[in-house]
Amino acid sequence: MSGRPASRLALAIAAGLGALAAATGPATAQELAHSQVERGRYLAIAGDCEACHTDFENGGAPFAGGRALSTPFGTIYSPNLTPDDETGLGRWTREEFHRALDEGRDDEGRHLYPAMPYPYYTLMTRQDTDAIFAYLRSLEPVAAETPENDLPFPLNIRRAVAGWKLLYFENETFDSVPDQSEEWNRGRFLVDGPLHCGGCHTGKNWLGADIDDEYLRGGLLENWFAPNIRGGENGGIAHWEVEDIVEFLGTGRGRHTVPMQRMGEVVAISTQNLREEDLRAVAVYLKSLDDAVREEHDAPEAARLETGAGLYFDNCAACHAADRSGVPYFFAPLDRSNKVLAENPASAIRIILGGARTQPTEAAPSMLAMPPFAWKLSDAQIADLLTYLRGSGDRRAAPVSAAQVAEMREYLAQEH
Ligand code: HEC
Ligand code: HEC
Ligand code: HEC
Repeated sequence: MSGRPASRLALAIAAGLGALAAATGPATAQELAHSQVERGRYLAIAGDCEACHTDFENGGAPFAGGRALSTPFGTIYSPNLTPDDETGLGRWTREEFHRALDEGRDDEGRHLYPAMPYPYYTLMTRQDTDAIFAYLRSLEPVAAETPENDLPFPLNIRRAVAGWKLLYFENETFDSVPDQSEEWNRGRFLVDGPLHCGGCHTGKNWLGADIDDEYLRGGLLENWFAPNIRGGENGGIAHWEVEDIVEFLGTGRGRHTVPMQRMGEVVAISTQNLREEDLRAVAVYLKSLDDAVREEHDAPEAARLETGAGLYFDNCAACHAADRSGVPYFFAPLDRSNKVLAENPASAIRIILGGARTQPTEAAPSMLAMPPFAWKLSDAQIADLLTYLRGSGDRRAAPVSAAQVAEMREYLAQEH
């Protein structure tokens, strides 16, 4: 092919253009700036910045902040990331922006609350944060004041965060593990860095910091349980193939489950827009994470199993099938559901009480819904039903009590 005159001509033209570009400096600088903005846009998608920094509920502009984020400690409002001089990042320098993502400090050096996931973003390089900054500067400035945080004393004092950081924050850089593949390392960087999967899927201590031993073993946020997503032996998604993970993150559908609520946002805003090779790297990394053998639970009382099975047959079998194997892609199989069998049954209780809605995505714009059962089933009935679902397969989980269901019912009635 190299000998064909046409391609030699193409080469000559390319060389000429290259010389031209080199001679006309500004064009190259513009091109470089454009590719930096593109790179920044991609990293901002990976980091899911828009999800937290947009007030969807009140129709706020993308990235203009103001979303109320509820934490176990109180409500924190996200700031405006658009380049508005008065209310946004208009007067920030690249250095200040880097410091926000790398060290969790604002332009005046004050500590940021870790509700902003800088403990993960710190793995990104200066080049990465410069690119994100360039992208944010390319947005239309929007004037939007950030509401005051609603935090109790002493947490309303930013200096209190200094103590937290001393205990739990490490300004790390990403080091590749040399005897792992490039793909695995890319996956680990994405998961632990920009994608910050552990922000929700890693168990937290009472001060909201990641517990190392709980890495991707599941965490609770706003009474949803983000389940164990370790894909190796004994992991929560050990029964998922690499393809299943790529499909779930890339299309928002899959044969095991679908994303809803906060995970729905992650898929809609972030992962469905990522390159397939990056999703594959994430999947390869997750599949490499083995887990300890799960705690053995005794079979639940026969009477509860029987009641639960009857309730299941009457209320659920029409969609999820009599043998609980579901209709993959439409009604999740419940016999191996990671939400049903999770150590913490919060998500499953919520779904039965309040129903479920799948996240519409580009690949799957239609929305499947499960009706709520709060009006129909009592706390004791839902507890028996879940005890049956959790106690009947080969991967057994602990029984659920009526009190656990009552607590969730109250939470949902009060706040949501
Ligand atoms: C999980 C929610 C969440 C995500 C995701 C998130 N942020 Fe934030 N961010 C926050 C919150 C909350 C604050 C305010 C923290 C505070 O008041 O101490 C914040 C603060 C900031 C600040 C400081 C701004 C100021 O005016 O002080 C910057 C800069 C920032 N975020 C950039 C980003 C970027 C860039 C991304 C994506 C790579 C991102 N954030 C993703 C929640 C988030
Ligand atoms: C903002 C919090 C949040 C972040 C960040 C997040 N997740 Fe989730 N994730 C959840 C919640 C909550 C659920 C449970 C509800 C659901 O399945 O939709 C979930 C569910 C899942 C499931 C389905 C598990 C199952 O078997 O039911 C997978 C797989 C998953 N997440 C992978 C990831 C990966 C990979 C990342 C990083 C790219 C990630 N998540 C980041 C909150 C989050
Ligand atoms: C009209 C059909 C329908 C009925 C009836 C129904 N569901 Fe669902 N269910 C769905 C849909 C749709 C979803 C969300 C899509 C998905 O998860 O695949 C879902 C999801 C779930 C999930 C989440 C599982 C996972 O891993 O994603 C659980 C748990 C669940 N249902 C339990 C039940 C129980 C228990 C009953 C009976 C009380 C029931 N459902 C009745 C349609 C139904």
